[in-house]
Amino acid sequence: MNARVELPPAVLRMARVPRPGKVHLVGAGPGDPELLTLKAARVLGAADVVVYDHLVSPQVLELIGPQARRIYAGKQRNHHTMKQEEINAVLVRLAKQGRQVVRLKGGDPFIFGRGGEEMQELVAAGVCVEVVPGITAACGVSAYAGIPLTHRDHAQSCTFVTGHLKDGSAELDWAGLARPRQTIVIYMGLSALAQICARLVEHGMAPGMPAAVVQQGTTPHQRVVSGTLADLAQRVEAAGLESPCLTIVGEVVRLRESLDWYIAAEQGAAATGANASTAQPELSAAFA
Ligand SMILES: C[S@@+](CC[C@H](N)C(=O)[O-])C[C@H]1O[C@@H](n2cnc3c(N)ncnc32)[C@H](O)[C@@H]1O
Repeated sequence: MNARVELPPAVLRMARVPRPGKVHLVGAGPGDPELLTLKAARVLGAADVVVYDHLVSPQVLELIGPQARRIYAGKQRNHHTMKQEEINAVLVRLAKQGRQVVRLKGGDPFIFGRGGEEMQELVAAGVCVEVVPGITAACGVSAYAGIPLTHRDHAQSCTFVTGHLKDGSAELDWAGLARPRQTIVIYMGLSALAQICARLVEHGMAPGMPAAVVQQGTTPHQRVVSGTLADLAQRVEAAGLESPCLTIVGEVVRLRESLDWYIAAEQGAAATGANASTAQPELSAAFA
C-alpha cells in the first residue's frame, strides 16, 4: 500500500522558503591547529563557502568540508588580495543567496581583525551573523613563549595595542603604556619596533625593561628573540625575524628564562618519546 502523508500547508510553505544564509565570523587561533575551538571546527566542516585570511594555518583549512568553495581574501601587510569593501560585498551577496558562509580569520575575529567592521556591514544589510571567538595571538603566542601576561609579582594589567603606526609616533598613549606593573602586547609592530622601544623609553620606561619578539608563535617555526627596550630592535634585526611577529614588553618577559616550555617540550618528546611534563621534571615538580 502506498501511504501518502499529507503535510500541513504551513509546513509546505516553509519547505518552499529558501534556507536563509548566515555568516559565521570565526577565529582560527594563532597557528597551532589544535588551538581551534570545537565550534569553529564544526562550522568549518558544514560551510558552503569559506572566505579566509592570510594568517590561517593550512591545517585549519584542511577542516573545510569537500563541498565548500574557498575564497582567499589575503591581507598581508601592503598586499591586500581583496579590498575590505569587496570582502564585505562578497559576504553579503553569498549570505543573501542562502549560503552558509564562514569568514575565517587568524586569532580572534574581534581583535585587530576587522571583525567588528565586517559584522557592522552584515548587520546593516540584514544578514544573520554569529561570532565564534578564537585564541588571539597575545594569549596563544605568549603562552607558547613561556611568558605569562599577568603575574601577581610583576603585572596587574595587560594592554593590547597595534604597532602599525601611520607616522611612527603619534597614535598611541605612550605615557599610559610606559606606566609600571603592566604588560604591553604589540600586534603588527615589527617594522616600527625601534620607534616603539624609543617612545616607551622617552616616556619613562626603563631602557633595561625586558621585552621579546615572537615570530610565528605556536607553530613549529616559532622563534623568540628577547632583550631589553635598549637592544631589542637591534637583536631582532640581526636575527632576521619576519612577520607575523608579536612584541611583548614588561617584567613578565623575564619569567621566560624558567618557563620556556614549547621548544624544550618538542625536543624532549622527540628525543625520548616522553610528553612535555615528563621531559621537564624540574618544571613539572615546580607546578605540582
Ligand atoms: C591583523 S593582526 C590579526 C590579529 C588576530 N585577529 C588575533 O586575534 O591574533 C595580525 C598580527 O597578529 C600577530 N600575530 C598573529 N598570529 C601570530 C603568530 N602566530 N605569531 C606572532 N604574531 C602573530 C602579528 O603581530 C600580526 O602582525
